Amino acid sequence: MMADSDAELKEEIIRLKEKRNAIILVHNYQLGEVQDMADFIGDSLELSQKAAGTKADVIVFCGVHFMAETASIICPDKKVLLPDMHAGCPMANMITVSGLREKKKEHPGAKVVCYVNTTAAVKAESDICCTSANGVRIVEQIPLNEEIIFVPDQYLGGHIAAKTGRKMILWPGYCPTHIRIRPQDIARQKAEHPQAKVVAHPECRPEVTALADEVLSTGGMIRFSRETEAEEIIIGTEIGIIYRLRKENPGKRFFPASEQAVCPRMKLITLESIRWSLQEMAPEVKVPERIRLKAKIAVDKMLEVG
Ligand code: 13P
Ligand code: SF4
Repeated sequence: MMADSDAELKEEIIRLKEKRNAIILVHNYQLGEVQDMADFIGDSLELSQKAAGTKADVIVFCGVHFMAETASIICPDKKVLLPDMHAGCPMANMITVSGLREKKKEHPGAKVVCYVNTTAAVKAESDICCTSANGVRIVEQIPLNEEIIFVPDQYLGGHIAAKTGRKMILWPGYCPTHIRIRPQDIARQKAEHPQAKVVAHPECRPEVTALADEVLSTGGMIRFSRETEAEEIIIGTEIGIIYRLRKENPGKRFFPASEQAVCPRMKLITLESIRWSLQEMAPEVKVPERIRLKAKIAVDKMLEVG
């Protein structure tokens, strides 16, 4: 059987989307052809805010599992589809509920701030959730006398601790994609493009973020690139974002800090899997109600801060 062309797949997805009253939410790291199908594209915070406000019956989440789970936590009456169930974030799997409970026992009374890159079950064990866009704001509003456990990303946690001056107990998790970016990669790009500004994601190692002009979420990088006078920008994050940056800023030049910074799980979502998902209305991500209600407290607190 001959494979359908991208144009045929896109047409079919649009038809199915209307039939199902679905919205397609897409993370900034997705494949270019998937980004082109987005009703909305953004970072983790923007996508959860969009999920909270949509009137669609079905959310097709083109991202990784924890993002679809967060949409399910916020909108239990909607059907949330993740076109490929294997699209999981390895960092989210670096912390378990039992591991977190142990840590809480060691620090009774400490507030638990969990990165949104966690399972719903870990969110249910946490006090408040955050993303890379609002982590500093979230930690700033925790009273100074409270001890803070931050899970699971040691580098985002370290960045927030440095920005807020708060001492935090950090879980030793990390993003296997962002740690591939090395300081020498930034230095090499800087040597080749001395006028360029450098932006880096807070999941990068501190030796890398120390070399950046700005440390930003992916949504922050999109805004910075639009607004800056600089015509050349070195991008210290997963390389999928470069497609959107080039599309939205044709007059500017973007250089990936490292071509090695690829998140393979993000790339599992394809036009074929989106079409299949809308045809079959599967695979569905649904958080069990008992966990959802507890996790929602941490997510709602985050959304209140914005
Ligand atoms: P953003 O929220 O900045 O898009 O980051 C999500 C993520 O998974 C980074 O690796
Ligand atoms: Fe997870 Fe890293 Fe992929 Fe983001 S880039 S989804 S943190 S593995």
